[in-house]
Amino acid sequence: MNQPNSNANPNAPLTKTMDNIVALCRRKGFVFQSSEIYGGINGFWDYGPLGVELKRNLKEAWWHDIVRCPGRGPDGKIIDMVGVDCTIIMNPKVWVASGHAAGFADPMVDCRACKSRFRADHLLDLLKESKWVESLVLAVSENQASNVNFDVAWVNRWAVNKGKKLAPNLYIVKNPVMNLPAYSPDSGQQGLPMNWLLHLVAGSHAAGKPILPCPDCGGELTEPRQFNLMFQTYVGAVQSEDSMAYLRPETAQGIFANFKNVTDTSRVKVPFGIAQTGKAFRNEVTPRNFTFRSREFEQMEIEFFIRPDTAKEWYAYWRDARFNWWKSIGLAGENLQLREHDKDELAHYAKEGAGTSDIEYRFPFTAPGFGELEGVAHRTDFDLRQHAEHSGLGDKLKYFDQELQVKMQGQGVAKEEIAAKSKYFPHVIEPSAGADRGTLALLCEAFTPDPSRPSGVVMKFKPRLAPIKAGIYPLVNKDGMPEVAEKLYMELRGRYAVEYDEKQAIGKRYARMDESGTPFCFTIDGDTLKDQTVTVRHRDTLQQERIGLDKVGAFLAEKIGG
Ligand code: GAP
Repeated sequence: MNQPNSNANPNAPLTKTMDNIVALCRRKGFVFQSSEIYGGINGFWDYGPLGVELKRNLKEAWWHDIVRCPGRGPDGKIIDMVGVDCTIIMNPKVWVASGHAAGFADPMVDCRACKSRFRADHLLDLLKESKWVESLVLAVSENQASNVNFDVAWVNRWAVNKGKKLAPNLYIVKNPVMNLPAYSPDSGQQGLPMNWLLHLVAGSHAAGKPILPCPDCGGELTEPRQFNLMFQTYVGAVQSEDSMAYLRPETAQGIFANFKNVTDTSRVKVPFGIAQTGKAFRNEVTPRNFTFRSREFEQMEIEFFIRPDTAKEWYAYWRDARFNWWKSIGLAGENLQLREHDKDELAHYAKEGAGTSDIEYRFPFTAPGFGELEGVAHRTDFDLRQHAEHSGLGDKLKYFDQELQVKMQGQGVAKEEIAAKSKYFPHVIEPSAGADRGTLALLCEAFTPDPSRPSGVVMKFKPRLAPIKAGIYPLVNKDGMPEVAEKLYMELRGRYAVEYDEKQAIGKRYARMDESGTPFCFTIDGDTLKDQTVTVRHRDTLQQERIGLDKVGAFLAEKIGG
């Protein structure tokens, strides 16, 4: 995914491919490989000058809209929401209570020959992308007699030629004279049967054990084993079992562990939410697709605490509110979808009947399918109950609902029933989003090929999210223009991320701003000195208009909004 331009013909119009998006991110300083000068490190990414502004804008929009100004809930009341900022390393008992120490694992397989490790559930996709499978499929399909008849002899021929180099540990490469069974298609089967072909070359068709080969070298893979995704470290000078700790795999548990602190020290009352943004770490077996599946990433999470009997309304509220929020920041309708989970997808904390849905974006690498941006889950009272038990706090972690108590007293409910019902573990609706996946979705959505622009592409971020809001340019670097432009720049830069540049022809400066996704440029020219107006250049329409020099601040405030 790292070549500069994935178009075969350098003069052909740029297309919206992942390779081209990754290349632009590198070239313009949105995203770099972590530790690139040492060859990088798999699953870790850095944000450059433009990327950090974009990601900050996303997180700030989230904090502003969800934590500071969350609007009204399904009960018509203004939503109560506060924030916390918890540590990455917590007492390891947290992860025993949450279930992560025992159960936060992915199935992985190891190659017995080259020792590479893969997620068992990603294997088929990895194989489809692998060099040797591409070459094998090409050899067989180029020489097939019809859409359903494959001449298996081409498999043997491939094995002694290209296969030797590309997949030296593959069964058929080591046993090239093997008698291969003819292919008998299922009725109606069209195209090359990938599974059948892979089992054939791995020798597992005969063994009756459908084990797929290694995507790297073709070697034999082990049976799947569970692999815990939490990173471990040691706290203090002694490295022992007792000092072992984990880097948090989700920010949510910091919120649950502080539930009592927050209710004791602030005026929040159920229903209310606690929000947190911050880093999370997962030792993903196969990090892939640029920043989509990283080993270090940032989450934006809300744990929303409610009375158990209001779960349905609040779940529906958050599911729809979060879906609409992603739309409001510029992810277009057809690339965004809301998907309710099937029963077999429920997480360990969600009980049957409790809602769980994903907000998904159609990334170029998932298309025509979608990839998860955010999960909205009814976590029941699982986490608070677990922490009550494991911390020894027991019922002290329950919430005392004074409002409910007063209401029941007014209804003449028996004292014992009031005592039992007004103290409870609230249920939780959790909207949990990824800041890096959100940033990636914004980058993919903004990437708009346009052959009429010098670089062939314009990044159409919504003004609110754009890393640079405006370029402020003197038309030429003389005649008093730089002084006026610099003064305007100094006035605006405290409020907005703006750029001042006096070098190069104005067209080149505009072109740079197209690739950075800057929605407006203000140009100071000869007329500015006479009539105190500037030219506004609009990124998307390429239209130009003149406004008063003293109106630029108000113009930006209106366009950026939020
Ligand atoms: N507290 C619930 C929780 O952590 P999750 O679905 O595992 O749920 C929530 O993660 C969000 O975090 C995902 O929707 C995704 O946006 C982001 N995320 C999870 N794993 C990630 C990874 N390896 N790389 C980047 N983002 C990730």
